[in-house]
Amino acid sequence: MDTIKAINSRRSIKSFDKNHKMTQQEIIQLLELAILSPTSYNIQNWRFVTITDQSIKDKLSELSHGQQHVSEASLVIILCADLNSWDKDPQRYWENIPEEPRIALINSLRNSYSGKPGLQRDEAMRSCGMAAQTIMIAARSMGYDTCPMKGFDYNKVGGAINLPDDHVISMMVVVGKRTKDPSPRGGQLPLSEITFKNHF
Ligand SMILES: Cc1cc2nc3c(=O)[nH]c(=O)nc-3n(C[C@H](O)[C@H](O)[C@H](O)COP(=O)(O)O)c2cc1C
Repeated sequence: MDTIKAINSRRSIKSFDKNHKMTQQEIIQLLELAILSPTSYNIQNWRFVTITDQSIKDKLSELSHGQQHVSEASLVIILCADLNSWDKDPQRYWENIPEEPRIALINSLRNSYSGKPGLQRDEAMRSCGMAAQTIMIAARSMGYDTCPMKGFDYNKVGGAINLPDDHVISMMVVVGKRTKDPSPRGGQLPLSEITFKNHF
């Protein structure tokens, strides 16, 4: 499927075939595409928790106000981020470039994020948002459907996945084979209302 078709046909699907299983190869392909999403300074701060185990999906559904699509999906991905990834062996993020620019980048990175918890959290949400969209479009291209989700108890889901103290959850994306088409789109705002030439 080409990209424009994948974008046009991506919808938030609420009903999946509970019996469909994605292959391990498909899951890896999806994740390998997800990690090509851009991150500031290439810090790759996202962390992906993948869940296919039915009992855990059922538990997550309970923690998502009973939303059934969590339980029915073939795969649940919890998109988390490491708030301190900027400080964890950052040379890894540019191992393919010469030493001099690598050191300059590391210094710039530390100056940018050190002591700035608000910015660290913003970066977590930016990176995960981009990865989530990559996952949804890639999944669509692979013949799957998705639903991005924030309607769950973040603390309890964090507990269920042993979220480390210096990590945050951004959102969940569920992936599966649709069993029901979505209602027509809610209604897109016109470009004339939400786009501006050069300034507001
Ligand atoms: C950050 C975010 C959180 C969302 N949370 C939920 C959710 O908890 N449950 C759900 O069914 N849909 C959820 N949605 C899906 C939205 O309702 C949906 O994207 C929106 O209505 C537009 O529909 P479309 O995605 O089919 O174009 C979420 C979407 C986003 C982007």
